[in-house]
Amino acid sequence: MSTIQIEGLRPLRGEIAVQGSKNAALPMMAAAILHKGVTVLEHVPRIRDVFCMIDILKTMGCRCEFEGHRLTIGAQTLSRIAIPRSYVTAMRSSIVLLGPFLSRCGEAATYYPGGCSIGSRPIDLHLYGLRKLGTEIEERGDDKIAARAERLKGCEIVFPYPSVGATENVLLAAVRAEGTTVIRGAAREPEIESLCRMLNGMGARIRGQGTGTITVEGVDALHDSEFRVPGDRIVAGTYLAAVMAAGGRAFLRGIEADQLAGVPELFAGMGARIRREEDGIGISMEGRPAAVSLETRPYPGFPTDLQSPMLSVLAVSSGSGQIRETVFEGRFAAAEELKKMGAQIEIDGRTAAVRGRYPLEGAEVDAPDLRGGAALAVAALAAAGETRIRECSHILRGYEDICRDLRLLGAGIRSNTSG
Ligand code: EPZ
Repeated sequence: MSTIQIEGLRPLRGEIAVQGSKNAALPMMAAAILHKGVTVLEHVPRIRDVFCMIDILKTMGCRCEFEGHRLTIGAQTLSRIAIPRSYVTAMRSSIVLLGPFLSRCGEAATYYPGGCSIGSRPIDLHLYGLRKLGTEIEERGDDKIAARAERLKGCEIVFPYPSVGATENVLLAAVRAEGTTVIRGAAREPEIESLCRMLNGMGARIRGQGTGTITVEGVDALHDSEFRVPGDRIVAGTYLAAVMAAGGRAFLRGIEADQLAGVPELFAGMGARIRREEDGIGISMEGRPAAVSLETRPYPGFPTDLQSPMLSVLAVSSGSGQIRETVFEGRFAAAEELKKMGAQIEIDGRTAAVRGRYPLEGAEVDAPDLRGGAALAVAALAAAGETRIRECSHILRGYEDICRDLRLLGAGIRSNTSG
């Protein structure tokens, strides 16, 4: 079990180079399947989900070399079209491999990913979009899905909800489909925009990314390409939250403020001073943050992935605030752990009511999930005494090295892996 210990109440001061984006890199790795050649990705984060996707690609017959942050994927030959269940269970986002395999091989097999700690995570919108493109989906027993498409044909697809993953799956299937595909109600997250930029760099013909309507003109062939993964906006937002809670100042290099959908402006309204630079974001914070109330929304709304770190900021705010989680139905697991640290949080369905107090109290807590674990680290920075966070393997799925990064900001933090 991996554990992190944090000695709280030290103001932060320093600079961090923000890692590459997990949620941008994963669909880009899937996109490499579309081309019988070589795709190079730079600035890929060395996180567990990336290593899991590399294992999947290798199992399917790809050659993968990951040196430093440079990932070279050779997809000249594929040896199978069925994704092993163990990988689907380990990483739900493997579902975005469906589109590329249908495009490349005309068939694919996987499993219903099943729910996780933040919600039931259905894939009905993924299957709706792929069926519209001409895919026959057979739901076999034991959660197995077999998909087949003689020839994917472009069409108009209207999503009732801007699902990030479903938008990515349809994009990846449409790139080499016959004719034009128009996706309405598409997700607008920056990760969609960077995926489209990467695909266009491979020879795809996509426009409208970042708006709710994306048009894909099918092409016959793609070519070798190289692309740099953008900075991880959720990791950057987590570290902004850390400064909000602990006080101090930091500069986060390698992230564009615009990608953070108004989060810096929200923090400025809570008392922070924000400095937008060409190559990053500066933040300084003195005293306790003012309380706010907000709800999570698809981009450009407040990101659901920063909801847990925001709970930690509100837990030490100078007033009372509320967070309403509108994207996932069960994403308040961190609240129970924060309450062990003295946080005053009441959960009612999809709403968390928080009354700030400062400082919190160091305690022994368990990371419930990826972003909940990061939120506990944020809270520990504003807690008296030592906090021990167990089950930190969750955090390693998305944060390359949260100890290294927070130590660079002057936090009293260390980790050990035992057993
Ligand atoms: C992506 O998940 C991200 N993961 C999530 O980040 C992020 O929280 C989420 O987008 C929202 O921004 C990756 O990119 C790998 P959705 P995804 O499809 O694609 C419902 C993290 O911490 N829905 O936009 O699964 C779904 O149940 C992770 O880095 C359907 O109903 O998100 C949820 O309520 C967590 N049917 C909502 O839409 C579907 O077919 C948003 O899901 C698909 C989704």
